[in-house]
Amino acid sequence: MGMLADRMAQVSASATLKVAAEAERLRRAGHSVVDFSAGEPDFPTPEHVKAAGKAAIDANFTRYTVAAGIPELRQAICDRYRNDYGVEITPGEVLLTAGGKQALFNTALALVNEGDEVITHSPYWPTIPEQVKLVGGVPVIVPTSPDDGFTVHAEAILAAITPRTKAIIINSPTNPTGGLIDEATMGIVADAAARRGIWIVVDLCYEQLIYDRVPHNLPNVLFERHRDRTVLAGSASKAYAMTGWRCGWTIAPKELTSAFNVIQGQTTSNITSITQKAALAAITGPQDAVGDMLSEYRKRRDNVHAWLTAHPGIKCVKPKGAFYLFPDISGLLSPGGMKTSTDFAQALIEKEHVVVTPGEAFDAPGYLRISYATSMEQLREGADRILRFAESLQPARAGA
Ligand SMILES: Cc1ncc(COP(=O)(O)O)c(C=O)c1O
Repeated sequence: MGMLADRMAQVSASATLKVAAEAERLRRAGHSVVDFSAGEPDFPTPEHVKAAGKAAIDANFTRYTVAAGIPELRQAICDRYRNDYGVEITPGEVLLTAGGKQALFNTALALVNEGDEVITHSPYWPTIPEQVKLVGGVPVIVPTSPDDGFTVHAEAILAAITPRTKAIIINSPTNPTGGLIDEATMGIVADAAARRGIWIVVDLCYEQLIYDRVPHNLPNVLFERHRDRTVLAGSASKAYAMTGWRCGWTIAPKELTSAFNVIQGQTTSNITSITQKAALAAITGPQDAVGDMLSEYRKRRDNVHAWLTAHPGIKCVKPKGAFYLFPDISGLLSPGGMKTSTDFAQALIEKEHVVVTPGEAFDAPGYLRISYATSMEQLREGADRILRFAESLQPARAGA
């Protein structure tokens, strides 16, 4: 008998851990490392949010709450979605989770049977297919293409549907591409799912980080067509620079929310009581910090995109949301030089001490993910080093 459960054979650990460990080794050896691997804001949590957390401690708000989370916070989430999307949600459809990650995991646990297929699009955030595998499901991956900015096409999703399809997971804005699914596409997918009783799960963790005013009212599109089989997964992590607090949520039909309650009640119970008070301040308080951070990300995106694409070997779609650049560096790879984006990322750490995540981690060989949730100085320095490294590959390329 194996030491571990069979399910562990199917699941991979985070690919970013390897680069992170290497970066840490170099840092300890005294090198100046430029780290573009972070999946989180570099900004501090806004002051009024921190104050609410401290006040919660001082008021001894440090006990269990109901597993779903305090009613005020669930109501605040309903109000926020009414305000932002014009949809009516009741607190009985909301459950607070330890980040968007637990929101998605509760969903997978509650919906997916052994052998059920779950469709999602690639390049993807690896947690999405790994969670499906953890619960015994089969991820079915629909690739998107850089030729049209990694647009998710409805026909491709529909073509992947089989009698075993249990759910379709859409992540928009998308990590790592920064792409957005458009409302029309979401509508077509929702109509098809509605006809077949397939669940739609939308990971909206970057919903507040969209650079231009473009239509992205996915909650409304879904609620109009398919409300009884829609799950929205949200998070305070990215919008409010609260990754360490662990606050996310599901918005789902009452029956499914009851199942989430059972799962969470028997596993982690409520999210941290202090976090709930801080999240309440984040969601109901002034939103200036969200806009300020977005403006800063926009400047960084524009700069680092311009700096890197100045090199003819680097092609890059401009992200519409989130805070990652996903350049195609296949023009810098060659049989006699750097063969893969993993080789490239490894050599970049060793030679220039710049940490990026290779595209292989997102099912997209030939790409790199560069997080621009870091200071402009670091971005300039890192971009210079990447360009210098790219230049150093030219002779190998010519000779190949
Ligand atoms: C696409 C996507 N969804 C969800 C999450 C979950 O983040 P958290 O659990 O901190 O809310 C992340 C974090 O990196 C993400 O990139």
